[in-house]
Amino acid sequence: MAKEQMNKTSLLAIESSCDETSVAIVRNGKEILSNILASQEGVHNRFGGVVPELASRRHLEVLDDLVLKALKEARFKWRDIHGIAVTVGPGLIGALLVGVSYAKALAYALDLPLVGVNHLEGHLFAPLFEYPEIKYPNIALIVSGGHTHLFLVEKVGHYTLLGKTRDDAAGEALDKGARMMGLGFPGGPILDRLSSSGSRMKIDFPRALISRDSLDFSFSGLKTALRDYLHKNVHSQEALEKILPDLAFNFIQAVVDVLVHKATQAAKRYGIKQIVVGGGVSANTLLRQQLKQRGLQEGITSFFPSPSLCTDNAAMVGMVGCHYFEKGFFSSLNLNPKANLSLLEKHNSA
Ligand code: KG4
Ligand code: ZN
Repeated sequence: MAKEQMNKTSLLAIESSCDETSVAIVRNGKEILSNILASQEGVHNRFGGVVPELASRRHLEVLDDLVLKALKEARFKWRDIHGIAVTVGPGLIGALLVGVSYAKALAYALDLPLVGVNHLEGHLFAPLFEYPEIKYPNIALIVSGGHTHLFLVEKVGHYTLLGKTRDDAAGEALDKGARMMGLGFPGGPILDRLSSSGSRMKIDFPRALISRDSLDFSFSGLKTALRDYLHKNVHSQEALEKILPDLAFNFIQAVVDVLVHKATQAAKRYGIKQIVVGGGVSANTLLRQQLKQRGLQEGITSFFPSPSLCTDNAAMVGMVGCHYFEKGFFSSLNLNPKANLSLLEKHNSA
């Protein structure tokens, strides 16, 4: 081991909760030495959504290779690793099972500690890599394909759920909307690109605020509104293509308005000046611009990770894993993945 690596915690981290396989080497929870990703976009594209069985198989096929690549890029030998961190949930059970089984086998073979990590906890703390100035307590907005959650975060492991979606997640709404517009999967990034040349048009997409006091979300009405709009107004492929940028802009704007409103409302209610945003939808251009803009008016700073740390990645798993590792909290080799793991459940013990 090189001299500078001594007395530092270096974890090999594995993420396989959905359709991205990722392996990272993270040092001290702060430095990303490698963060390798194999996207499965090409596998699921033609089905218009993630096919769980195909996702699990693909994780299995690529994991060996990704682990070797992550070691190589970090210039690590097996003996330089101090522990294995892995996503335990939430996610697709078969996909999680591949990562957890692989991590358990590695931990056993190398005789290293195993640390289970909640995927959402990864998204919550990914911004810390780039913004060490983030303070606690803060408000965290997690917006991904499976989740739309607002948390009050006091410190690692201490979270209060303030609001969540009652139906579709924000990313799910964008993916379903894009599908109705005849676009590919995942639709979020495609709508993002299209929206850059779109402008406001007179479509009455709903902004579901539920009630004045609620910090919950609801996006299913948006889908219905889009379906009705397309049914009434768009009668040919040519007509659809003509308005796609405007449709994309207005559809995203309806989602973004609600996210910005509720996140700001949460920060004001708890007297907090920092909003930390994570999950795939946090890569969205309009959300990034508009939450920052609103923050300027309210004296609130919002933190968005770089796009590669917004979507699923193993570096965020390594970051949280290092925290538990350094506190002496480990998982046993009986660790099992859990599809609906809540952020408040514990899976490591001292
Ligand atoms: O966090 P993530 O990679 O996986 C989950 O844990 O779900 O999030 C994936 C979601 C998808 O719904 C995808 O459409 C959305 O994030 N997404 C985006 C963008 N990039 C990814 N949505 C809007 N704009 C983007 N640039
Ligand atoms: Zn995610």
